[in-house]
Amino acid sequence: MPHYFYGNPLYPLISSALINPSTMTANDQTLIFETILEYLRRSRGFDFLGYKRSSLQRRVTKRMQEHHIDNYGDYLEYLKVHPEEFPALFNTILINVTSFFRDLTAWQYLASYILPLIIKHKSPEEPLRFWTAGCASGEEAYTLAILLAETLGIEECLRRVKIYATDVDQEALAQARNATYKAKDIECISEEFQQRYFKLVGDRFRLDGDLRRLVIFGRHDLIHDAPISRLDLLICRNTLMYFNAGVQNQIQSRFHLALKDTGFLFLGKAEMLLTHAELFSPLNLQHRIFKKVRTMDQRDRLLVLAQNRKEESGTRYALNIRLLEATFNAVPVAQIVVDSDSNLILANQLARSRFGINRQDIGRPFQDLEISYRPVELRSQIERVYKEGNSILVSDVIRTLSDGRIQYLDIEISLLQQNTSDPLGVSIAFNEVSRG
Ligand SMILES: C[S@@+](CC[C@H](N)C(=O)[O-])C[C@H]1O[C@@H](n2cnc3c(N)ncnc32)[C@H](O)[C@@H]1O
Repeated sequence: MPHYFYGNPLYPLISSALINPSTMTANDQTLIFETILEYLRRSRGFDFLGYKRSSLQRRVTKRMQEHHIDNYGDYLEYLKVHPEEFPALFNTILINVTSFFRDLTAWQYLASYILPLIIKHKSPEEPLRFWTAGCASGEEAYTLAILLAETLGIEECLRRVKIYATDVDQEALAQARNATYKAKDIECISEEFQQRYFKLVGDRFRLDGDLRRLVIFGRHDLIHDAPISRLDLLICRNTLMYFNAGVQNQIQSRFHLALKDTGFLFLGKAEMLLTHAELFSPLNLQHRIFKKVRTMDQRDRLLVLAQNRKEESGTRYALNIRLLEATFNAVPVAQIVVDSDSNLILANQLARSRFGINRQDIGRPFQDLEISYRPVELRSQIERVYKEGNSILVSDVIRTLSDGRIQYLDIEISLLQQNTSDPLGVSIAFNEVSRG
């Protein structure tokens, strides 16, 4: 139970109005302010405890002034008897201010460098996943949709692109889903895009239906909810700044997990990643675009996790991983594993020596490695396996070795899946066969 509610010595006095506000100290006021926050959390499920106090207090004071209230205790009482005050208070705290192409030059940079980079590293059918967190009334998500439609064409977007757009504020999300804007809201969009992507309906402008279909809106609280995963780009602009340093820190770690190893993070103009240089490195500081720093590879991570377990089972777990690894290495066929994020996760001894894979390659995007396209293009085959849900055999692959000898391979790509869950990845076995 948070301490400042039941533990707050002033709470019984405030709630029964026994205390005279004029005799309260600044410290008393601070405690009562915390009581308001706890009241909002308990009665309305809105948790502002992790938000910066200075801006929260400014916004609550703004609401108090509307009602000519001069202390937090009276405002708390007011809230209890005037439920219609809640939406007004939330709107004041959450400030859904946003616009299309907010900070135009940053979006231009994104369109010219980052989106092409993301697309370049994908095979033509691979999905592209985006998340705009704290999307308010949707303009940011639709800005991204417009840029992607310009880059890929709408047909390809409909096949490959998913933009998740979330906010804690249901009212803002309802507006976002509606995708209908006043003339002045779309003034910042070029004439050309206005004509291409908006239609006048009554006195408002409606965004094109195909673009709307690219975006999936949902309620998501950045402080409490699990992040969306396997992202190529995460946009969280002018939202992190609401939170205190501790909460920002936690959210940054979750963002790191949410992104693919090749993913990017796009923040607001006034926002910085003050901590966690080990998780993100700046790609363009002026536009607040960061690149995910890849941490340990999967095997190291598992071993560290295992060895960190205090109990004896930790040692056994680590031992089991080594046993599995030894078994994998003993298989008389070159074999690799590519996970569902398209990173090379495992390569047994034979695969490492036959295909020149070294330890640093483990954890790298598969597409960056020669084995993904030589002796045969494997990425499209992997996609086929995911699509069809079956193993496939690519036979009679010819490989010329460095000494000029010819090797014939049957390559078997198998789906790795546990029960009915999403696939974990694929295993690729290179069976040497003789011909003639
Ligand atoms: C100033 S708007 C930013 C809108 C848009 N990202 C932009 O930069 O134009 C901040 C948004 O963050 C949302 N927000 C505040 N706290 C949040 C939370 N805990 N989880 C998710 N969204 C939150 C607010 O509802 C608001 O819509």
